[in-house]
Amino acid sequence: NQEKLSSARFSESTDAFVEAFTASIMFDKRMYKQDIQGSIAHATMLNKVGILNEQELADIKQGLNQVQAEIEAGDFSWSIKQEDIHMNIEARLTDLIGITGKKLHTGRSRNDQVATDIRLYIRDEIDAILPELKRLQEGLVMLAEREADTIMPGFTHLQTAQPVTFGHHMLAWFEMIKRDVERLVDCRKRANTLPLGSAALAGTTYPIDRHFTAELLGFERVSENSLDGVSDRDFAIEFTHFAATLMMHLSRFSEELVLWSSAQFQFIDLPDRFCTGSSIMPQKKNPDVPELVRGKTGRVYGHLMSLLTLMKSQPLAYNKDNQEDKEPLFDTVDTVKGSLRAFADMVPAMIVKKEMTYEAAKRGFSTATDLADYLVGKGLAFRDSHEVVGLAVAHGIKTGQDLSEMSLETLQGFCDQITDDVYEVLTLEGSVAARNHFGGTAPDQVRAAVTRAKEYLA
Ligand code: ARG
Repeated sequence: NQEKLSSARFSESTDAFVEAFTASIMFDKRMYKQDIQGSIAHATMLNKVGILNEQELADIKQGLNQVQAEIEAGDFSWSIKQEDIHMNIEARLTDLIGITGKKLHTGRSRNDQVATDIRLYIRDEIDAILPELKRLQEGLVMLAEREADTIMPGFTHLQTAQPVTFGHHMLAWFEMIKRDVERLVDCRKRANTLPLGSAALAGTTYPIDRHFTAELLGFERVSENSLDGVSDRDFAIEFTHFAATLMMHLSRFSEELVLWSSAQFQFIDLPDRFCTGSSIMPQKKNPDVPELVRGKTGRVYGHLMSLLTLMKSQPLAYNKDNQEDKEPLFDTVDTVKGSLRAFADMVPAMIVKKEMTYEAAKRGFSTATDLADYLVGKGLAFRDSHEVVGLAVAHGIKTGQDLSEMSLETLQGFCDQITDDVYEVLTLEGSVAARNHFGGTAPDQVRAAVTRAKEYLA
């Protein structure tokens, strides 16, 4: 229908391939709502400063609302000739309301328009992601409370290290997600800045009121510099950085869930609805959801690198390169939302096999450090007690005995300071209960941390 944008300047029409190559409508139509929201605010501001009269503003609003209704009903015919979301909507608006539609773009450029749209979009998505993060945190806290006394082996180097409580382990994930939330909230502050009014790059000759537009759109501040306003994509990089760090955390968590649900560990059972079978092996129950989240982490890292590289070396101000910001950003949003939804649903539903985690903690001399600490209490220097316990462990490996299974005489053979109160520190329960300080693994500390976590979430 409509002719090519700025067609008067050109003596031939765009090459068909170039038209398709330079278009972004296939993906930026996702921002239709934000584009219309921004345009209504812009028109309202133009009316306030006397550039559009009441009738024109009313026509524009009504026209844009109709465009939105058409898009949402699936009746809108998208055109690659109109290049992007901004031109598609403006062209349809002009079809609908005539010449007034052509006045909407007064004092504005697609450069500040797209910068505004993306900021509105990312703000909306942040507001949708925050509750999902909270839901995951609530699941972790619920699980931590339920499993505050459950004993499992804690690992370093994936070798049995010391016993910990399952609840304590879950709260480690809670803390990581808490920092991710902080990063996202912080990112939102800077994203919540209005670039509109920067126009193409230098501002505009019209007597615009940017603070009024900002107020209408709920932006906390107005960008201070028009060149920066149209070319800043830091907020997209920050968001993707948040996402990459979150996915890194979820990938570590995923890895543990995959290991723990294996026949070799048997620490947990993931509900069947989060797993799939094998087309050949009838016995299989595969932890696809954590595996996929672990795998999807890679694409988000890639998007972070794409955006950093996209912005690298770009001279001021807007460059067409920036159109490439959308697909990585959109896919990051989709991946984060999908992964969070899966985890928030799955985590509180997993079943912890307490006997298995307990048995596993009993293997691997997990209370060796407790014995060393016990000997320090009896007057040995830590390095000497470390040596003594090392000898006892070597003996245990040879005879197939845990430290708690050795007789008092045997233990006294390694150090005559040992008395029969040693067995209290060699039990798994004694070991975890003894780590009873702020941030420690003792069940009482887990319950205290759960209380703090609930207050934080409330
Ligand atoms: N589709 C473009 C983008 O995503 C909109 C801005 C185009 N501006 C321009 N001068 N070509 O960045």
